[in-house]
Amino acid sequence: MPRTKLIAANWKMYKTPDQTRDFFRDFLPLVSGHERDEIVVCPPYVDLAAALEAARGSNIAVGAQNLHWKEVGAFTGEISAAMLLSLGVTHGIVGHSERRQYFGETDDTVNLRLKAALEAGLTPICCVGEVLEEREAGLTDDVLRRQCVRAFRAISAKKAARLVVAYEPVWAIGTGKTATPELAAEAHAVIRSEAGEVFGEEFAARMRILYGGSVKPENAAALMAQEEIDGALVGGASLEPKSFAAIVKY
Ligand code: PGA
Repeated sequence: MPRTKLIAANWKMYKTPDQTRDFFRDFLPLVSGHERDEIVVCPPYVDLAAALEAARGSNIAVGAQNLHWKEVGAFTGEISAAMLLSLGVTHGIVGHSERRQYFGETDDTVNLRLKAALEAGLTPICCVGEVLEEREAGLTDDVLRRQCVRAFRAISAKKAARLVVAYEPVWAIGTGKTATPELAAEAHAVIRSEAGEVFGEEFAARMRILYGGSVKPENAAALMAQEEIDGALVGGASLEPKSFAAIVKY
C-alpha cells in the first residue's frame, strides 16, 4: 500500500511572527495545488498563530516543535498538546535530537510526550537517530531499536494510528553530511521492523518514516526515491520558501 509522503519543516529557533508571515506569503503560491505530499511547517511557539492564520484554507498544516505530557499544571515554560490543538495545530515533533542533547530529553520523556500527543489527537513526529560514535562502533541498529521500543512503550497500535517516526542521524543534522539514500533506507527498515514487533506488521507497513539530516533541494529526489523513505524532516533548508518548495516538489 503506497504511503503518502510527509514533508515537514522544522524551523528550530528561527523566525519572528513577521518573518513567518513573509515566509508564507512567498511559499504558498509555490506549492498551491500540490497534492502528492502532505506539507507541515513547525515554527517556534510564538509563530504558531501567525503560521495558522497564513496557512488557513491552504494545503499546509502547522506543527509544534515540542509539547508537554500534562494537559495543564505548574510547569513553567511548557506547552501542552491541548493548548496546541486549541490553536489549530495538528502535528508535534517529539524527541528531536537537539532536545535530547541540550535539554535533558530522555527515552522516557519522549514516551510521555508521544503518549500525550496521540491521546490528544495530534500527529506526533517522533525523532530517533544515532550519534557518530554509535554509528562508527556499529551500534546504529541497537540504538534505533532501543529508542523505538522505549518511545513506543505502553502505546497500543490503535492509539498509535497517527504515529510518524523521523530517522535523523545526529551526525547529519545541520552538518551538510547527508546519509546516503541506501544508508537511510537501511535504518528505516530497522525502525519499521521494530514498529512491527511492537504494533504488528500491518501497522508497520502503513507507518510513515521520514528522513531528516541535511535534506536539500539537491538531494531530496534521491532520498525520496527510496521505497522505505516516506518523507523528510527539513531544518536549515526549510527556512527559505524557494528551497523548501523545491524539496516539497522534489
Ligand atoms: P537540518 O536539520 O535539515 O538542518 O540538518 C534537520 C532537523 O534537525 O530536523
